[in-house]
Amino acid sequence: MQLPEGKTGLLAGAALAATAAGAAAYVYTNKLTCEQGVVVFLDGSKIGIHLGKCESIDELKGQVEEKLHIEDCRLFVEQAEGRPELSSSAELAAALASPALRVSGVLLLLATADSQPLSSTAQQAPKLLAIPAGPKPLPLVGSFLLYKQGGQGHPAYNFAANVFAPEKRAVWGDTVLIVLPHSGGPDGEVLKDVQPGLLDYAVATCDPEVVAELLARQDDFPKLWGRRKAERSLQAVAGNGLFTSSTLDKDWQVAHGLLPRAFNQIRIKNYFGVLLDKTRSFVAAWAQMPQGGTIEGVSDWLTCMTADAVVKAAMGMDMGNVEAKAAGQPLHKFIDAFRFCLKSALGRATVESEFGSLAAWNPFFDGAAALAKKKASALQASHDVVSELLERTRKGEIGGPQSVLSAMLNDVSPSTGDYVRLQNIYGQVMNLMIAGHETTAATLAWALYYISTHPEVEAKALAEISAVLGERCEPRADDVPKLVYLEACFREALRLHPAVGTVTRDVYADTTLKGTWFVRKGQRVDINNVALQRREDQWGGSFGDPNAYNPERFMPGAAEASGRHPNAFNPWGFGVRACIGSQFALWEGKLFLCMVLRCFKFRVPEGFARPLPSTADGGAAPTPHHLALRIWKRKESGAVLESISSQVAAAKAGAAAPAAAQKGAAPAAAQHGAAPAAATAAAEASHGTPLLILYGSNTGTCEELASSLAGQAAAAGFAAKTASLDSVLATPAGPAGGALPEAGALLVISSTYNGTPPDNAAEFARWLPKQADGSLSKVTFGVFGVGNSQWAQTYQAFPTQVALGLARAGATQVMEMRCSDVDSNDWMEAFDEWQREVLRGLLVTFGVNPPEAYVAAVNSGAAAGEAKARLQLRLLEASEPGQALSVETVIAQLRAAKPDGYHLLEVLENRELQGPGASRSTRHVQLALPAGEAGQYSAGDHLEVMGNNDKALVAAALKRLGLTGAERVEWRANIEGGSGSARSLGGSGGLSLILSVSDALTWLVDLAAVPSKRTVSLLAEGCPCPPEAAALRQLATEEGYKEKVSGQRLTLVELLGQFQSLSVSLDQLANLLPRMGPRYYSISSSPLARPGTCSISVGLVAFTTPSGRPHRGAASATINATPVGGKLLGSVRKLSSSFRLPQDPSTPVIMIGPGTGVAPMMGFLQERAALAAGGASLGPAHLFFGCRSSAEDFIYRAELEGYVKSGVLAGLHVAFSREPGASKVYVQDLILQQGPALWGLFEAGAHVYVCGDARRMAPDVRNAFKEMAKSCGGRNAAAAESWMGGLLEAKRYLEDVWAG
Ligand SMILES: Cc1cc2nc3c(=O)[nH]c(=O)nc-3n(C[C@H](O)[C@H](O)[C@H](O)COP(=O)(O)OP(=O)(O)OC[C@H]3O[C@@H](n4cnc5c(N)ncnc54)[C@H](O)[C@@H]3O)c2cc1C
Ligand code: HEM
Ligand SMILES: Cc1cc2nc3c(=O)[nH]c(=O)nc-3n(C[C@H](O)[C@H](O)[C@H](O)COP(=O)(O)O)c2cc1C
Repeated sequence: MQLPEGKTGLLAGAALAATAAGAAAYVYTNKLTCEQGVVVFLDGSKIGIHLGKCESIDELKGQVEEKLHIEDCRLFVEQAEGRPELSSSAELAAALASPALRVSGVLLLLATADSQPLSSTAQQAPKLLAIPAGPKPLPLVGSFLLYKQGGQGHPAYNFAANVFAPEKRAVWGDTVLIVLPHSGGPDGEVLKDVQPGLLDYAVATCDPEVVAELLARQDDFPKLWGRRKAERSLQAVAGNGLFTSSTLDKDWQVAHGLLPRAFNQIRIKNYFGVLLDKTRSFVAAWAQMPQGGTIEGVSDWLTCMTADAVVKAAMGMDMGNVEAKAAGQPLHKFIDAFRFCLKSALGRATVESEFGSLAAWNPFFDGAAALAKKKASALQASHDVVSELLERTRKGEIGGPQSVLSAMLNDVSPSTGDYVRLQNIYGQVMNLMIAGHETTAATLAWALYYISTHPEVEAKALAEISAVLGERCEPRADDVPKLVYLEACFREALRLHPAVGTVTRDVYADTTLKGTWFVRKGQRVDINNVALQRREDQWGGSFGDPNAYNPERFMPGAAEASGRHPNAFNPWGFGVRACIGSQFALWEGKLFLCMVLRCFKFRVPEGFARPLPSTADGGAAPTPHHLALRIWKRKESGAVLESISSQVAAAKAGAAAPAAAQKGAAPAAAQHGAAPAAATAAAEASHGTPLLILYGSNTGTCEELASSLAGQAAAAGFAAKTASLDSVLATPAGPAGGALPEAGALLVISSTYNGTPPDNAAEFARWLPKQADGSLSKVTFGVFGVGNSQWAQTYQAFPTQVALGLARAGATQVMEMRCSDVDSNDWMEAFDEWQREVLRGLLVTFGVNPPEAYVAAVNSGAAAGEAKARLQLRLLEASEPGQALSVETVIAQLRAAKPDGYHLLEVLENRELQGPGASRSTRHVQLALPAGEAGQYSAGDHLEVMGNNDKALVAAALKRLGLTGAERVEWRANIEGGSGSARSLGGSGGLSLILSVSDALTWLVDLAAVPSKRTVSLLAEGCPCPPEAAALRQLATEEGYKEKVSGQRLTLVELLGQFQSLSVSLDQLANLLPRMGPRYYSISSSPLARPGTCSISVGLVAFTTPSGRPHRGAASATINATPVGGKLLGSVRKLSSSFRLPQDPSTPVIMIGPGTGVAPMMGFLQERAALAAGGASLGPAHLFFGCRSSAEDFIYRAELEGYVKSGVLAGLHVAFSREPGASKVYVQDLILQQGPALWGLFEAGAHVYVCGDARRMAPDVRNAFKEMAKSCGGRNAAAAESWMGGLLEAKRYLEDVWAG
């Protein structure tokens, strides 16, 4: 999110490229200050730089030329009727004075490389215009009254009616510039160098396209809080929590890595028991109301319900408000304190409202001081409650592993590696309180109001409840997702009455919106959700009046049928700042409505008019003003209510009374660390043996396997949880605070990276050897390793280390460590097998029986295939609506949903490195990096690039499927899952995207992969033709497979081509194939050399398979063929290893990088050159490079020889393996030759870097160095080994090697 240093440099370089190509850049002026800047259009990103004041046209031109490094700049005026050239200062002055130029007035700059009047590309450049003006602002108050006036009861509703009512939109449009004077805050702290006055201008919109753009360009439009007075007052009360902080703020970044996890799809299911308990209490309380009686203050009741639910679920404390309200007792002190704080922050607490009108007029009463005192004591009371919560969590009295407080106290944020600041925890808790209950309570109030006034909706809801629950009194956790109509009722209430009426974003740097409107750094963009969510064009049509309540709009298929824009519904906000509690709210809302509607009938009291949305009843979200409901117990609810009240009575008996809970002494059974009611219900069928599954994983494979295992384990009756190896150290699982659980079992699944642990297991790797022998004697464990045998020397190094370490410390192994070699095509089989066996072993060890369904699934073999998360693809019928999205849009949406996903990186340069006659190809590819990544990489890091299948493979697959490719497919991309699914672009659940079939086959699956033996067996099983089935079974045997499938590098489609009786659908094909995964490339540049960009050096993989199919590497061929200006899908991957230049540049460096292994060395050399230019004194550096011949593939020759000349490189040693007339030489031979000189460097503390082939080169090079230690250092074989071990340990011998 930070703008990288040197962005201006990038801009200049890019602008040069852009203008040379005849593209456009704009000069703008700020009418308030007469300062100018430049906006340069680069494909997909528009960035501004500041110019300062210019008095004359020459001065302006001079500045532009200097900033953009261009020579002959010419200016043209942007006018509706054309773009005449600007040639005198008088014309400039006139242009600047033009009334069309408001704050964001623009002139057009076109710097053409040729002498034509205007290059044709530039002629076609998009127009850059000011945001259209909205209703005329008034002096002093600007547009303020648009929020105040209108009698709607809430500012966002007033504004919607005053500005965005259909007839108003016809005049002003969907996006307008408004003026909010004096709303600016201390911007220097949030955003530096904002031009004065600009803050007064904001952009208000109800256009879903603008929302989509803000979502797609989150870095350009972050949420910055604390700039308006109201925001600062709220921060004074609610602290700097997730909701109320700026995206650029460290507090937000740290908490954003931690808190959302507590509310993800998996967690919320665990809260089911808590939610059920609380809803039961609620229903039991309302059951006490007389038949036909009126419940006044419905919103207050709902506030108690939702506040209790979120605090109990997320923090483990039962505030007991529902119970207290039912008993007529005072509410928990937090509620009053917090509500008062909120009220005063929103400016609604006055002397009159708090002390009465008499006090307000009493000259002897110091109202202001009394108000301030009341506020201070309310604030103190809220602080006290949070402190108490923290203290009790710390002592382990409340909380447990689910608690967000425990997470904040114990865990570091995976995104930043920091703990939440202690002082910030208060803010985070207050934010959760505000965001977490007011919103849901308001939505439930609206839903109840509408359901009780729409009998047809009520009837449908009741029918659904009966159908889902059948004879049961209450829903179970797995019923909740089935309550689709209730969900639609909840969502429709949220549409008409978004609890957050305005969602804001801010302009990070001068840029454009919708490609044409110019917006200035620091300006605010307000999305008016009320207007957006009632637009006739989005919500009308066959669903009727957009202002009417009709849940059908949210039934499955309705969004597609109506063709509405995906961003026309925005109640949860979007992108990285989207609501973290939406799933929680939906679960809570559906469960609540289900229970309440099943038991009661509601009607509004006679004469009760449609309520206004208002915050006057207290709280921050607009609720139906003074909502009251008449209540009747339903005739058929007797048994249900009886069951509920007995459950509540039982809970009460086992728990302390609400009054005690209020003092903070919630009973152990009520804490969510203990088994909640639903879990107990589930436990009837399952034994619930705890099982902790820990993973170590960089690219997500092991993480996905862990979650697959957790699913299987849960089916087998275990209470399974997954976590990374490191995270378990922060949240003690053992009873005495030990990290590992002593009850139940522990299973570990991990990979290895060049012999070292994955990033999220590094701590664990340090921790384990420190555990005393026998100290883990109560732990039962199993380990599964995932590795690649191409890393021959360090194959399975880390999982092996874990298995040995645990056993050494006394833990009992439930079964021998097993592993998979991902280099083999059927590595998943080994995992499936282990999964089945280890669970069986654990069932036996603990003497427990799995549920029958699991036994049946295992017996039928159904459980085996679960390991691979399904790729959810659904071919759309021609009649189904929805357009296929472009790949760019898909990527933008994925990124918006999962910000650490891939970017489209523009290719700035793509040149051949091999000599003219060479038979192979290696490309130097320079790429522009997005703002978030540009400043972050270091020389030595990797770039991940996502490949795609070549056209021939896609065509063959389409032919076999009988499709043209133009058909559309719905892909439910997984964004909730771990890094793995994000890394592979695939997965299940989450975002729903429509792609063309040909794009889906190009991007999502690896069509070139060889099918595994298990896939071949599956095909045999499903083959309807007996002779073909027999032939397939033969191919699934060890020899058949080796000879005719893997030996031929046969693809699945090729195989299917041989067996025509097999019919496969797109979905089946996709799920028989592995997902397309990223390829790694060592970055061959240093950020110091060309900021904002990086380069990679890519060898083209191209060969003909034994089956005769020409294979072109999925990633390398794509990279090879992407021209300058094209885009590649990729992302920087920061290395956790120490493959970095030594801190001290005077340390000697020895680099071994044959072939493309030279890539990181090029980065190191660039870095050294930049350091030297900055005055650093460099130690000697030697590079050992290897290639076939000097004419063919001596890549980077000129650059390397240049480094020798400049002294950056002390020695360049090139080994040619096929130089005409010379014998074969490899890098290891040259190392031996240079032995004595190198030995001297070792003695001086040299660091060694090896990059390239893992299989042969890396071991040979290690051996060469060991030889050198013998010949030059006088060591024997054993001492040479331990010398090498010492270097590895000290991280002075570093390998970054890969399987070729
Ligand atoms: C940490 C790391 C850093 C890397 N850095 C670089 C780098 O800087 N530069 C670089 O070019 N690559 C680098 N690679 C390799 C790169 O990631 C890719 O593996 C490579 O580009 C091939 O990917 P692809 O999608 O083009 O080929 P794919 O479509 O994946 O095809 C490659 C497959 O084809 C097989 N294959 C290759 N040649 C033949 C043949 N002649 N006959 C039969 N089978 C064959 C390979 O065994 C492999 O299974 C690196 C790898 C790693 C892990
Ligand atoms: C119907 C219920 C809810 C609605 C309508 C709602 C709405 C929203 C909206 C619109 C935002 C984004 C605000 C912005 O972009 O400025 C948001 C953010 C947030 N919500 Fe919710 N919310 C609801 C329930 C919840 C619940 C139950 C929780 C807690 C469990 C919660 C916690 C949060 C938090 C912490 C944020 C800030 C996230 C961030 O910026 O990183 N919300 N919510
Ligand atoms: C850069 C790199 C280094 C690797 N080093 C090793 C290694 O030393 N030993 C090994 O067995 N596997 C090694 N592998 C293979 C990985 O362990 C394997 O790809 C695994 O599936 C990754 O799992 P993950 O996605 O859960 O991290 C390496 C892979 C890469 C990309």
